[in-house]
Amino acid sequence: METLVSTWSRTAQVLPENYVFPAGERPGSVEVPLCQNIPVIDLSPNQEKSQSQTVEEILAACQEFGFFQVVNHGVSEDLIDDTMKVAKDFYDLPDEEKAKVYSTDPNKTCRLFTSSYSYDKEQLHFWRDNLRHPCHPLDECIHLWPENPTNYRHVVGKYSLEVRKLSLRILGLICEGLGLQDGYFGEELTGAQMLLVNHYPPCPDPSLTLGLPKHADFNVITMLLQGSVSGLQVYKDGEWLGIEPIPHAFVVNIGHQLQIISNGKLRSAEHRAVTNSQEARTTIVSFTSPLLDTIIEPAKSMVDNSEPLYRTFKFKDFLKFFEEKKGDTEAIMEAYKIKPLQ
Ligand code: OGA
Ligand code: NI
Repeated sequence: METLVSTWSRTAQVLPENYVFPAGERPGSVEVPLCQNIPVIDLSPNQEKSQSQTVEEILAACQEFGFFQVVNHGVSEDLIDDTMKVAKDFYDLPDEEKAKVYSTDPNKTCRLFTSSYSYDKEQLHFWRDNLRHPCHPLDECIHLWPENPTNYRHVVGKYSLEVRKLSLRILGLICEGLGLQDGYFGEELTGAQMLLVNHYPPCPDPSLTLGLPKHADFNVITMLLQGSVSGLQVYKDGEWLGIEPIPHAFVVNIGHQLQIISNGKLRSAEHRAVTNSQEARTTIVSFTSPLLDTIIEPAKSMVDNSEPLYRTFKFKDFLKFFEEKKGDTEAIMEAYKIKPLQ
């Protein structure tokens, strides 16, 4: 418990050495301009725009940025506010209450920990605490979730169902945009869902450290609520772009599996989280992933007129490799690429 940033940093005046990133990876100035070009897509059904226009917007965003935001998405604003509140309330609980969920065992299904999977082995820590647990099928996992705050299960349960519905709806639009057969993103590709509550306490020197280092997500699709505090940045053409916090919007991004399924048409973009010295930042992340035994490969219709860029694999083997390589995108994607014959 004493390793949690939210526990020890309350009284910290200086950034400890083992949170100082190597010069080339430090954010330096955290005043990265918020990017005005990352699409904000309106999903409301009763507007002028046709569904095919929405599909086009989503596809263009996934190709260019690998990121977009959605508004008028149908998840109630009250539910979003309640979920953000309960997530913050969790981190405000007394230490002895949080200790009930804290664990360094990566095999524990529901746990609170800090930094990465390998705190004990790593030289360098990330400025974040993380609560994570599966959230689908709900009746198989809800009993493992925190018992406090007392409304955690009720609120987060409702939220998980709604966010899953929205993730599947967006995948349906992507499916249409890619021209895949209807229902392509079925249970095999989307049957696992994890919920993460990231917490980044105020940091004494945000220019030297990161909440999360540069990485791309391992899964199919991610939906993130960043509340009102900025900190999420996307890497594009050698530059970091800040993602504007829009109240009640979801930030959506493409994971490695969707890049591979689309045979490289959609981008699984690298991103990171920076910290700030003023206020704590809490984000709620929903990862939709394949079931462990699912075979992943570029969709047949994506390689009708071209060669597959990636080889076929079992999702669980990819996960193992992703962890071994600590999310190093280049090393991971290189290993899954089919090398052209010399
Ligand atoms: C993640 C992630 C960013 C954030 O959890 O994979 O990229 O702003 N989070 O919390
Ligand atoms: Ni991420």
